[in-house]
Amino acid sequence: SHRIMLGPLVAAIDQGTSSTRFLVFNAKTAELLSHHQVEIKQSFPKEGWVEEDPKEILQSVFECMERTCEKLTQLNIDISNIKAIGVTNQRETTLVWDKETGEPLYNAIVWLDLRTQSTVELVYVIVILQHKTGLPISTYFSAVKLRWLMDNVDEVHEAVVSHRAMFGTVDSWLIWCLTGGKSGGVHCTDVTNASRTMLFNIHTLEWDPELCKYDSCLTLAFNPIVLPKSGALSGIPISGCLGDQSAALVGQMCFQDGQAKNTYGTGCFLLRNTGAKPVMSDHGLLTTVAYKLGRDKPACYALEGSVAIAGAVVRWLQDNLGIIGSSEELEKLAASVGTSYGCYFVPAFSGLYAPYWEPSARGIICGLTQFTNKSHVAFAALEAVCFQTREILDAMNQDSGIPLTQLQVDGGMTSNRLLMQLQADILCIPVVKPSMPETTALGAAMAAGAAEGVSVWSLSPEDLSEVTSEKFEPQINPEESEFRYARWKKAVQKSMNWET
Ligand code: G3P
Repeated sequence: SHRIMLGPLVAAIDQGTSSTRFLVFNAKTAELLSHHQVEIKQSFPKEGWVEEDPKEILQSVFECMERTCEKLTQLNIDISNIKAIGVTNQRETTLVWDKETGEPLYNAIVWLDLRTQSTVELVYVIVILQHKTGLPISTYFSAVKLRWLMDNVDEVHEAVVSHRAMFGTVDSWLIWCLTGGKSGGVHCTDVTNASRTMLFNIHTLEWDPELCKYDSCLTLAFNPIVLPKSGALSGIPISGCLGDQSAALVGQMCFQDGQAKNTYGTGCFLLRNTGAKPVMSDHGLLTTVAYKLGRDKPACYALEGSVAIAGAVVRWLQDNLGIIGSSEELEKLAASVGTSYGCYFVPAFSGLYAPYWEPSARGIICGLTQFTNKSHVAFAALEAVCFQTREILDAMNQDSGIPLTQLQVDGGMTSNRLLMQLQADILCIPVVKPSMPETTALGAAMAAGAAEGVSVWSLSPEDLSEVTSEKFEPQINPEESEFRYARWKKAVQKSMNWET
């Protein structure tokens, strides 16, 4: 059989909260050639705690790389054409490992984890922190999780004292392991991931000495790294690294000031490019480094509205309530009624993020009658994702003064057509979904390719407009939409006053 000639290829490791993927794209056309995906187990050892196993995360990356290479070989595509690999990852999730043994010293504490709620409620330096880091005080970011690890896990404490501890977000852990681990692995991260730690000054683009008074700060500058010589992908440089939401912004080509995208993953994250200037929010959004594509290129910033629970509510309905067997079933179940019948579901499982930043909020389902059944609850769960997006879109529009006229979306949940229609109905603006939904991986692969001189940027604006997308137009009248949104806000108030 003949090998197919495609020219250069670019690849991405996409390590998300719920799953890991490895994807390979044709660099010229951005076409997805092959990929493999593996689910990641989450454990909930105590109420509000969320952990993942660092070794399972690493293993899933190896498995995805191997299986994708096998698939490419079956397609007669030469894997030696892969010129660059980008890493993109769930952000904030915090790991500590021993640099001498290479062993993790505790599970990864996932961004959603609430164990630091009491610490967070004690911090009074909010204003200074927010100015330097762009972030509100929250259980969400890495610094509080690292503090918890140092104070509560003996192994971590001892390793810190004896200078054997390494701290990192998932990107750092993966890159360190992939580049040799205890025998010379590279300990680094990039500015987008760093900007989520609460240890990083987003203005100077450096670790803040006041905020990081602990030992091993990571190397920040991101240089191409060559994978050690083993396995099918040996010798290919890892030449790009971006937090997953930044990568999606790049993959959606939101390079202009004012352009925005919303990604529906485990959580849901609306980022709006604000150009070379970090803009501080007056409406509960956070300020983050959007991307910095090259050592000499300026950083670009974004306003972000983070919603903790989107896809996670689907998994909860499946694993905890057992009312659906798969995410596809959720769409069918909800569509069978087409309304929540007055039922509202606020999935504040990890407190509420933007725009409230209320760690003590808890989930509620309200407005129930004897008529309510599981289909209505399913519908209310989908509506919750849309209402939460509406809240951050409103905040975004107020902060910028220039309302978005349509919303670019991506991520796993966008395959749910009912959700997309509901989203347009609740926002009262069109929702636009690209035909290639893997924009996060594409963004990381593009960044990695660019660093190696393999550009996916050759797509001209005309080509881009031909990239097929699907548009969902609002179909209900705005009065009805406002009525439902007002009810949702009442439900949110109830979820926030839960503990008092
Ligand atoms: O900030 C958390 C975010 O990066 C996780 O993304 O896609 O795993 O929900 P996702």
